[in-house]
Amino acid sequence: MKNDLLQKVTSLAKRRGIIYPNSEIYGGIGGFYDYGPVGVEMKNNLKRMWWKNMVDLREDVVGIDGTIITHPKVWEASGHIKNFGDEVVECKKCHHRFRTEDVGKKCPDCGSKEFTEPRSYNLLFKTEIGVLEGEKTTAYLRGEACQTIYLDFKNVVDSTRMQIPFGIAQIGKAFRNEITPGKLTFRSREFEQWDMQFFVHPDDMEEWFEYWKKERMDWYKELYNKKENLRFWEHPKDKLAFYAKKAFDIEYKTPWGWAENEGIHWRSDYDLTQHSKFSGKNLSYVNPKTGEKYIPWIAETSGGVDRTFLMLLFDAYEEEDLGKGKTRTVLKIHKDVAAYRAAIFPLVSNKPDIVEKARDVFKTLAPEVKVIWDSRGNIGKRYRYQDEIGTPYCITVDYDSLKDDAVTVRDRDSMKQERIKIKDLLDYLK
Ligand code: GAP
Repeated sequence: MKNDLLQKVTSLAKRRGIIYPNSEIYGGIGGFYDYGPVGVEMKNNLKRMWWKNMVDLREDVVGIDGTIITHPKVWEASGHIKNFGDEVVECKKCHHRFRTEDVGKKCPDCGSKEFTEPRSYNLLFKTEIGVLEGEKTTAYLRGEACQTIYLDFKNVVDSTRMQIPFGIAQIGKAFRNEITPGKLTFRSREFEQWDMQFFVHPDDMEEWFEYWKKERMDWYKELYNKKENLRFWEHPKDKLAFYAKKAFDIEYKTPWGWAENEGIHWRSDYDLTQHSKFSGKNLSYVNPKTGEKYIPWIAETSGGVDRTFLMLLFDAYEEEDLGKGKTRTVLKIHKDVAAYRAAIFPLVSNKPDIVEKARDVFKTLAPEVKVIWDSRGNIGKRYRYQDEIGTPYCITVDYDSLKDDAVTVRDRDSMKQERIKIKDLLDYLK
């Protein structure tokens, strides 16, 4: 199944309202995707889980929400205008272009061995600010979300009670004019990142870097079912991003092999030094107790929201043999990521008493947990649909419910059914 998992997940995602190709009625546009009614719920849940872990449960991290367009000088200071690129080669036979690092000796599409010389491309998307021709300024859509964190560093220090060591977290869009977008959302041109920049004294960098490596890996281990599909990969010195002194990727084993899920980067004082130089504002930090003044060093955790979400779909997708030639497709996704905690079914839709009772159950649960209503088709079909979108529980109100005030709850993973009193349902689901 491994080889066609990408295709199966892509098909399921489209069929069940998880991920749609953007602008599909116009033939699509490479590297841009929309989340459908089920996908948006899942992605929001995933982001909430990250925020809870990185911000809500910690006393040393605060959040911000920065803009996508910033002062254009930001990207000069960050080095992205000069260095943020990929090397590209073109196959001389089929004229397809590839990132140099993605091709071996042969063209992956036609097998030819002849390529053009590598050329460099900048990945930043340009736009313009202003309306009058001749007075417009070139600006850039942020190539990495974290830059806004550096821009707000001084404001956060001045406006909050935070003292080093502390972190600033953000979830937000980033844009890269990728040469070879593909593999569904794995390499997109518009995507979201979850970033946390942890500001430390240079002497404490090693310790915090190791701390965050472990912390983030532990978090991903909680999220995925197949822990063995996670590993660290250390960037060799000659492959480091232009700003990094040391970097580890948390990788997940995708259908096409190990691939980056999140980067843990040792950025030292690079970012704040550059922004101090280019802005003329001193971004040093003064220790309120000792008076020591220094440019903080940064340990960064930077992951892709869409990429994690895609990897979660690979992780959760199962085709189970139910015997007698029957199979089921089920998304065994983390229960907190699932779009709905439970689906509510009236056993039949032509018995007003049952429908009314089921609606009461829906109304009681809806303010507390996300639930979905389904009264279409037979119960078997409803189960199949909810399995495919990963709904952990299906709740059926039947004839007996009218007498015993209980319902049948069916578990997604074990398919076991239990009779639960309606008054106990909320505790059960939570
Ligand atoms: N601030 C550091 C930074 O941006 P990165 O390794 O270039 O580091 C961080 O990006 C994460 O963003 C990656 O681990 C990946 O999950 C995600 N990411 C990067 N480029 C992406 C793309 N084109 N499409 C989807 N996700 C991407």
